[in-house]
Amino acid sequence: MIPALMPNYKRADLAFEQGEGVWLTATNGRRYLDFGAGIAVSSLGHAHPKLVKAIADQAAKVMHVSNLYRIPEGERLAETLVENTFADSVLFCNSGAEANEGMAKLMRRAQFENGHPERTRILCFNGAFHGRTLAMISATGNPAYQKGFGPVVEGFDHAPFSNSNTLRAAITPETAGIIVEPVQGESGIKPATKEFMAALRAVCDEYGLYLGFDEVQTGVGRTGKLFAHEWYGVKPDVISVAKGLGGGFPIGAVLATEALAKHLTPGTHGTTFGGNPLACSAGLTVLGEILSPGFLEQVRRVGDAFGVMLEDVVRRSGGIFDGVRGIGLMRGLHCVPPVGEVVAAVLDQQLLTVTAGDNVLRLVPPLIVTEDDCREACERLVKAAQILAAETADKQEKVS
Ligand SMILES: Cc1ncc(COP(=O)(O)O)c(C=O)c1O
Repeated sequence: MIPALMPNYKRADLAFEQGEGVWLTATNGRRYLDFGAGIAVSSLGHAHPKLVKAIADQAAKVMHVSNLYRIPEGERLAETLVENTFADSVLFCNSGAEANEGMAKLMRRAQFENGHPERTRILCFNGAFHGRTLAMISATGNPAYQKGFGPVVEGFDHAPFSNSNTLRAAITPETAGIIVEPVQGESGIKPATKEFMAALRAVCDEYGLYLGFDEVQTGVGRTGKLFAHEWYGVKPDVISVAKGLGGGFPIGAVLATEALAKHLTPGTHGTTFGGNPLACSAGLTVLGEILSPGFLEQVRRVGDAFGVMLEDVVRRSGGIFDGVRGIGLMRGLHCVPPVGEVVAAVLDQQLLTVTAGDNVLRLVPPLIVTEDDCREACERLVKAAQILAAETADKQEKVS
């Protein structure tokens, strides 16, 4: 018989009942060091006192009122985002895929309003991940996510990621805009080159296209800047945000310049839950912490140190890892054996990690992680790798 929960996830046989900072305690009584953060979500770690209080206080006042009324918490969160980014205006929603849908709709609508109704297509890149809605599996372009869900939504083209030479040829008279992750996450922690990001801006300016960054995974401090595109010095027209913004409470956002945002007039777009008082109180608290003096400097310091430690993990891994990738606290270790085996071995050492494409072990701890936590994680990685290497050697000996 089918379980009550639909079987669309391959879950580890593990459940957690309590969290504190970067640690999670499972129902089996064991404590796990969390370097997955619920897939780059729990930016302030678990049970952060300020976030817990903000959510509890807001829940006791009013959780939801709908967008039929003003929402002061949402106005404050939008103002904070505007004050600290390129953006002039913010749209709230509930997830990364929904933020990307909003971003794509905004691009199309703005082109339409500007007298270019033919400009409807969005250029995306090979290896992208933009979410699982019908349109976003099209934007993602990976056949593995599309199989059996056809017909695919029309209007998304793909070009090689981080390749400036093939970029221009992918633009057509129907292109409305470009959507790209500054660092591809799901497909294996791959940062775009500076040259590519600059070329994207140049091409968009030349052809009158909108440049959109999917910062769902890279955003809200993950790479050591509030948003990853800041590393590149390239100004987008619009970005999508989700994951870390609510620190575990679901919230997504589309941040845009006035030129785009002004076209989302009343009635053009909407969502019942988007930007409700509870979600925005969570977002305000998370953003307040991340923007507090020294927080992002600390993420950069710890992230840099973690990168150096991971190089050492590779050297000590007995050939299990052969490369480090990423920026700040968005890191990947390229695995030699299948990454699924590595994640399981690492889990045995009570360290939580996430797989990514290209056989990469993804390490995206809460942003409050310390260098000592990173050192501990690295020791566990080395231990897991050495056990795996010994087992592999054993198996090979038996075969020969
Ligand atoms: C870059 C990127 N975009 C979009 C998404 C989809 O976000 P959600 O799962 O919240 O819909 C993800 C999720 O992993 C992501 O990493």
